[in-house]
Formats: sequence, C-alpha cells, structure tokens
Amino acid sequence: MEIVSLQRENRKHINQAAQLLVEGFRENWPEAWPDLPSALREVEECLGAERICRVALNDQGDVVGWAGAISGYKGHVWELHPLVVDTRYRRRGIGTKLVRDIEEQVRQRGGLTIFAGSDDENGMTSLAHVDLYDNLLNRIRNIRNLKGHPYEFYLKMGFQIVGVLPDANGLGKPDILLAKRVIPWPETGKGTARY
Ligand SMILES: CC(C)(COP(=O)(O)OP(=O)(O)OC[C@H]1O[C@@H](n2cnc3c(N)ncnc32)[C@H](O)[C@@H]1OP(=O)(O)O)[C@@H](O)C(=O)NCCC(=O)NCCS
Repeated sequence: MEIVSLQRENRKHINQAAQLLVEGFRENWPEAWPDLPSALREVEECLGAERICRVALNDQGDVVGWAGAISGYKGHVWELHPLVVDTRYRRRGIGTKLVRDIEEQVRQRGGLTIFAGSDDENGMTSLAHVDLYDNLLNRIRNIRNLKGHPYEFYLKMGFQIVGVLPDANGLGKPDILLAKRVIPWPETGKGTARY
C-alpha cells in the first residue's frame, strides 16, 4: 500500500474516493454524503488551495482510503476532513497510516495542530441524547463508546477530546472535537503525538 497526493486529472481515483465517502458514511452518518454528486463535490473541494488530499492505494492502484486536511488559523491548525477507509479494508492499519501521513504533511507546512470534528448523530456515544450543558466536563471525562464511534480511533492516534459542540446535528446530536499537536512541546519535548 502507498499513500500519494490525489491528482486532479486522475478521474478513476477521484471517482473511487467519492464512492468511499458515500459507502463509508452511509450507515452512521447518512446525511453526510447521501449520493455520488455530493461526494464528488467534496473530493473536488479537497483538491483546492490550502488543502491536503492524500489517497491510500492498494497493490492494484485502487483507492482504499483517503484523508484530507483544511488549513485554518493562519496555517497553525489544520482540520482533518474527511477521513475514510473502505469498509472491506478497515482494522488493518490504513486509517492509522493516513493520519500519520497527514500529520507529516501538516508538519512540512509548518502547522502545529490537527483537529477533527466527529459527529454523533445516532447515539453511538454517551454524549448523545443527553443535555450536555448539564455537567459538561464530567460527561466528556466519562465518555463511553456504545456503538463503535471513531472517537476511540482518534484517541489511539494521540488525539485528545478538546470539546464538544452540543446539538450540532440536531437536539442531542453533538459534534465531538478532537485535536493533536504534531510537534513536541519545546521545554519538555513532549507531544500528544507519537513521532
Ligand atoms: C475511522 C476509520 C477511518 C478507521 O480506519 P481503520 O483503517 O479501520 O483504522 P486502523 O485499522 O488504523 O485502527 C487503528 C486503531 O483504532 C481502532 N479503531 C478503528 N476504528 C474504530 C472505531 N470505530 N471504534 C473504536 N476503535 C476503532 C482499531 O481497532 C485500532 O486499534 P488497535 O491499534 O488497538 O488495534 C474507519 O473505520 C472509517 O473509515 N470509518 C468511517 C468513516 C469515519 O468514521 N471517519 C472519521 C469520521 S470523523
């Protein structure tokens, strides 16, 4: 498997990347990319300025996962968006490789932080279907994964939960915000990351 930048002229890879968004988010985030045209728009946007767009290719040269990042806060912070691995290729370390690759890309551009917003639209975590304004910080501290929500994947990548946006997707459907510094802290050499 190799990870390369998605090329604007590679229609095959663009279509495969779009297809992965539709299939990969259908079950738990059906409103994200309900059809191919909406997913194609996302891929095209990912090829724009101030963006990173990287695809994981299998030995046949097909896209089996991909990740994008969007520059913000004058380039200090990059939003990891989107991130998807083909359902048939999950839990084999491809998501990990894509995140590590994006971290390196962000470092090369002088960025400090990557963050992701990970929605909970259907009760995948204990942060859904509750009044988050009641005891918010304790709720975050005691978060539980009820149905394989990807926040746990991000924690394994060295991200921390830095917040939650209540009702981002409707009442009781929050967006969980996770972030990670991609360089060491100067005095201690410590990062949130494994380098
Ligand atoms: C989240 C996603 C990108 C992970 O990709 P992947 O290739 O399966 O991830 P990896 O194999 O590298 O997994 C790394 C670790 O995270 C764990 N993990 C992966 N997905 C997980 C999930 N949904 N819940 C809990 N743990 C998870 C793996 O078990 C593995 O743990 P280990 O190192 O202890 O064995 C993939 O499941 C996906 O595309 N999901 C749908 C889209 C999505 O959720 N995108 C992110 C939304 S913000």
